[in-house]
Amino acid sequence: MSVRIHPSILSADFVNFERDFATIGNSDSIHVDVMDGHFVPNITFGLPMVQRMQQIAARPLDVHLMIENVDTLAERYADTGVASVTFHVEASSEPVALARRIRATGAKAAIAVKPGTSLDSVLENLSEYDMVLVMTVEPGFGGQALIESTLEKVAKARAAIDNSGLEILLEVDGGIDSSNIARVAAHGADTFVAGSAVFKAHDRNAEIEILRNLALQSA
Ligand code: DX5
Ligand code: ZN
Repeated sequence: MSVRIHPSILSADFVNFERDFATIGNSDSIHVDVMDGHFVPNITFGLPMVQRMQQIAARPLDVHLMIENVDTLAERYADTGVASVTFHVEASSEPVALARRIRATGAKAAIAVKPGTSLDSVLENLSEYDMVLVMTVEPGFGGQALIESTLEKVAKARAAIDNSGLEILLEVDGGIDSSNIARVAAHGADTFVAGSAVFKAHDRNAEIEILRNLALQSA
């Protein structure tokens, strides 16, 4: 199994994104957290910023939408040319239709579940998605501790993906660091968002490789 490390720029310097992008060249993708202050109690940035990031980023962008009205807004993010758009099942009234519209733009479509949300409706429609994101913290802020009980959902998603025979990535987001990534990988995740763990490191590319190797050893 291959392992992907996606640093979250929620922990980057918000007035120096271009400079910080250049410090994470070893990443497989850059995780871009869009928050609207309604779906989550925090605000980051919106479409103009993502459009500009897409112009300057040397790595693919993995956009994580933590916003309301996602049924009408997600396609606009997908239209910027980013690699993938993740929306929350809790925010969409028509997740399958939305995933199809995202895919029609050429972007990968991904669906996220908060720690307290069941995976069942996602697993019933697995073939509609390119990636499933199991949140390992309550979305909204970086630097939180991983919620252990979410790992059961990671294992459940892994079993369903394997049974489907489809190529679907299984991403985890929140509280991932060198102390727990091996354990999370052992539960079946293959795509790891890490914000504070990467950005607080003196050598961010070296930290990405440490995380990757720890995950690879137990995947
Ligand atoms: C949280 C965001 C995460 C966050 C992760 O709502 O979705 O992407 O940046 O940060 P860490 O890795 O510090 O928990
Ligand atoms: Zn995120």
